[in-house]
Amino acid sequence: MNSLVKKATSQNQPSIGKLRVVHAEMDAENAPRSTSTSSNGSSPRLQITEKPSMIVAKDVTKSYRRHKTSVAVLKGVDFSAEHGKITAIVGQSGSGKSTLLHLLGTLDRPDSGEIWFAEERIDNLSSRKRDAFRNQQLGMIFQFYHLLPELTLLENIIAPAMIGQSVFSYLRNRSKIIERAKALSEMVGLSHRLNHKPNELSGGEMQRTAIARALITDPKLLLADEPTGNLDQESGQSILQLLKNLNEETGLTIVMVTHDENIAQQCDSLIRLKGGKVERLK
Ligand SMILES: Nc1ncnc2c1ncn2[C@@H]1O[C@H](COP(=O)(O)OP(=O)(O)OP(=O)(O)O)[C@@H](O)[C@H]1O
Ligand SMILES: [Mg+2]
Repeated sequence: MNSLVKKATSQNQPSIGKLRVVHAEMDAENAPRSTSTSSNGSSPRLQITEKPSMIVAKDVTKSYRRHKTSVAVLKGVDFSAEHGKITAIVGQSGSGKSTLLHLLGTLDRPDSGEIWFAEERIDNLSSRKRDAFRNQQLGMIFQFYHLLPELTLLENIIAPAMIGQSVFSYLRNRSKIIERAKALSEMVGLSHRLNHKPNELSGGEMQRTAIARALITDPKLLLADEPTGNLDQESGQSILQLLKNLNEETGLTIVMVTHDENIAQQCDSLIRLKGGKVERLK
């Protein structure tokens, strides 16, 4: 089954390398030209640095108010996800998996503790900076896809790139963004469905669209909350294989919440949330 899925998905994913090239061209246009060369003006200087974890939570607490009582969900969580790896988060329903993912994704703030992305503290950013950070550095996918029903598949994929820049900048980059969106739709095996609306797609196809949408801005980190939770086993495995191919071929770091033990075991690292704390299982 695994090899079948791998074969099916890899047939549909010929262009991951091309995506980097398209985006590198977009970056090169916007990059300052003088800073990337060495002092003698020759080739770019290589800086060898030890990579820190991609995202870290330090002693994070979070409670929610319910009626007049406060429910402590996270009680001093320490968590880190390595660069270029897939980290799975498991735990019983209500254990705080989505809460932790929302904090990592700056959708909410911890009551205490710190969240770091590479070498930048992100939990205390202003809301404007957090919005920009999310748009530029993170991709997110959810159990119920959250596609916009009135937009086509292609328009859904492009949407974050439109939101993340000025109208002028979008219009200047439009053809490259569309080219990238088409390459992404090809990568997720949906290039033949570009003009379809979400209600004309299966659950697996909607999740593939959501993955392509999450990648349009070339994020460093993909946060996924139960990405296979609404899919049958075969479609779920096929989505996992797609994420694994992406991780292997582009080095994308992925943090994924899942209920599925079989899927969790296939990830590089595995942690469990229990009693408001983290246990590292792998
Ligand atoms: N906005 C909120 N207001 C009040 N309580 C909340 C809120 N969000 C989450 N909770 C509560 O916090 C606890 C943890 O919720 P969370 O959604 O993080 O759990 P989970 O591990 O993702 O569960 P599931 O596996 O069911 O998705 C639950 O008891 C939930 O009811
Ligand atoms: Mg949840």
